[in-house]
Amino acid sequence: MNINNLLKKLTIEEKIGQLMQLAPFFFIGDLKKEVYGPIEALGLDEDEVFLAGSVLGIGSADEMKRVQNSYLKRSRHKIPLIFMADIIHGYKTIFPVPLAMAASFNPELVKKAARISAIEAQTAGIHVTFSPMSDLSRDPRWGRVVESFGEDPYLNGVFSKAMVEGYQHDGIDKIGNLASCVKHFAAYGASEAGRDYNTVDISRLNLHQYYLSGYKKALEAGAQLVMTSFNIFEGVPATTNQYLLKELLREKWEFNGVIISDYDSLPQTIAHGTSEDELDAAKKGLLASLDIEMASASYMNNLKKLIEEGHLDIKLLDEAVLRVLKLKKDLGLFNDPYKGADSRLEEILVLSKEHLDVALSLARESLVLLKNDNLLPLDKKEKVIIIGSYAKENNTMGPWSWHGKKEDIMPLDKAISMYGEVLLSKPVKSLAELTKDDITLIKKSDVVILAMGEESSESGEAKSKTNLRLSLDEKEIIKYIKSLKKRSVLVLYNGRPLVLSEITPYVDGIIETFFLGTMSSEAIAETLYGHNNPSGKLPMSFPRSEGQIPVYYNHLNTGRPAKNKNELYASTYLDSSNEPLYPFGFGLSYSEFIYEKIALDKKEITKDETLKVKIDVTNKSKFAGKETIQLYIRDYKASVSRPVKELKQFKKIYFKPFEKKTVLFEVTKEDLKYINTNLKRTIDKGLFAIMIGGSSDKLLKETFEVI
Ligand code: BGC
Repeated sequence: MNINNLLKKLTIEEKIGQLMQLAPFFFIGDLKKEVYGPIEALGLDEDEVFLAGSVLGIGSADEMKRVQNSYLKRSRHKIPLIFMADIIHGYKTIFPVPLAMAASFNPELVKKAARISAIEAQTAGIHVTFSPMSDLSRDPRWGRVVESFGEDPYLNGVFSKAMVEGYQHDGIDKIGNLASCVKHFAAYGASEAGRDYNTVDISRLNLHQYYLSGYKKALEAGAQLVMTSFNIFEGVPATTNQYLLKELLREKWEFNGVIISDYDSLPQTIAHGTSEDELDAAKKGLLASLDIEMASASYMNNLKKLIEEGHLDIKLLDEAVLRVLKLKKDLGLFNDPYKGADSRLEEILVLSKEHLDVALSLARESLVLLKNDNLLPLDKKEKVIIIGSYAKENNTMGPWSWHGKKEDIMPLDKAISMYGEVLLSKPVKSLAELTKDDITLIKKSDVVILAMGEESSESGEAKSKTNLRLSLDEKEIIKYIKSLKKRSVLVLYNGRPLVLSEITPYVDGIIETFFLGTMSSEAIAETLYGHNNPSGKLPMSFPRSEGQIPVYYNHLNTGRPAKNKNELYASTYLDSSNEPLYPFGFGLSYSEFIYEKIALDKKEITKDETLKVKIDVTNKSKFAGKETIQLYIRDYKASVSRPVKELKQFKKIYFKPFEKKTVLFEVTKEDLKYINTNLKRTIDKGLFAIMIGGSSDKLLKETFEVI
């Protein structure tokens, strides 16, 4: 297919149509009804609907085929639709939510999960996934932290890359692979006060230092599309932002793939107050090189007029259309418009043993042990009680798991009963729901498992919160169990870091599971009974109180860093420590890992030299286990203030019982570079520190000079 020749045959309306994305029902619904419903709301007529270039969301292979078929029948040039959807952490085999994936510190496993998501989703005829979400997230009030890889730029880059490589695998033309659309460009995670869709006001320096790494790594890994964000940057909505889209993406990063708006975000520039009306929004969108408009019709309703009246050059339209046609060609859709859609294959592949095994491995590595006062692992002879809203719940998928079915998931109490004796399992939400008989059983038990947290609908898009604590009723249950002198373990389900300060003294153990997906209960039960040794580490700090937010480990030193707690006239609080309750990189294990003897091969290096670093790590326990050895640097003197520590590398390593290993790292100039006020990556001479450990707050340190 020669797309340049094809372009020449298209009328201006047909070209503009390629830039419009609509939901599937437009093409197969009862058109008469639709014409008076959403179609009319968008100001479209039936003919215009059938000019659209792509579809948002699809339910199954049969639905995809029906939509494509009905579309192609009416299409003059038979240009197939592309089907795009939010396959965020699995199609039907649901993997841990992205925040939990990041806690695994295991990009290889996450790549496999993305690969499986692609294989499964492709059977429904999906070609593009709106993933990864590479928005750096420092504010747990923001509901979308659940879709992110957390607060660290390096980790964000590592996982963004892994996801793209998993989805696109050996090429988007092949069956079983998806094209990846990285989102939301840019800095959506910096919404003020953690309120979704809110203002973003950060400097260019900040954008480049911290917020861009995820998108950049995704693009370097070959992501084919970029989605714009809802927020403004430097006062201009991202969707029409010339600096972000043209200067940075197209020119500096030489991205020539498709840029798509977020849902309705082009006409929303009117509410932002930067476009006068849809005509103006359409003009600004095309000038910024925005290609596809998702779920709105500003382009369809206005581009023709803008071009014919000479306000826009048709060249811009042609370039945008060519990018869309090229994506269709690269996906192989001109050869097979129904590519991948195969309900028989779906039955064989979806939820296969192989896929579930990967989901289980990732769930095992994603959960984080936050507290363990000699309670875990449990002995199978101990009699347990399971209470809390997740005691019998099988919906452990978390947000953005449209195609997953809770019926495919084992409830927690069933999984636990395979390992130990369950005296009672009851999904109580308040103390009042416990009967006298229940209390008698609790008194007879050895351990109470408290399965609690947020509902899945409390995180995700538009799910910002100001109160990050467990409910009053849940806290009452926890305190009551403690008053009975019962030992307890809190198994947490939630989509964001919670404020746990009031709860930690009342429980003996805490397992943070986030939402682990289809194999959640198996992974949790194995962990409770020691068949899985927890190895997850937090990708985001857990604050002591909401008032500390944003609290992140890679903060700057300030001119008045505190030497002592609550020091006056230093950068501290009167009523709280600066430190979070659980820091970035923290996570316990049943093994005990000891770090000793950090050593550098040189005390001075030139800018081009590599520094060899080693450290001894010993598992001083009888439990075999994995440990994530984290390497941070600090650059003490630079032309701009640098963070007190920054993760630069990590290695997740398996240790046999009582095994000792010398772990080696090579620190190169890439690890030492920073971005200066000219937005250039550079190294200054001077003092640096290397810090290594199993958590960002417990590190061994050595210094060296760059000369
Ligand atoms: C979200 C995107 C998502 C899109 C399509 C928007 O509301 O912000 O992340 O990909 O909807 O579902």
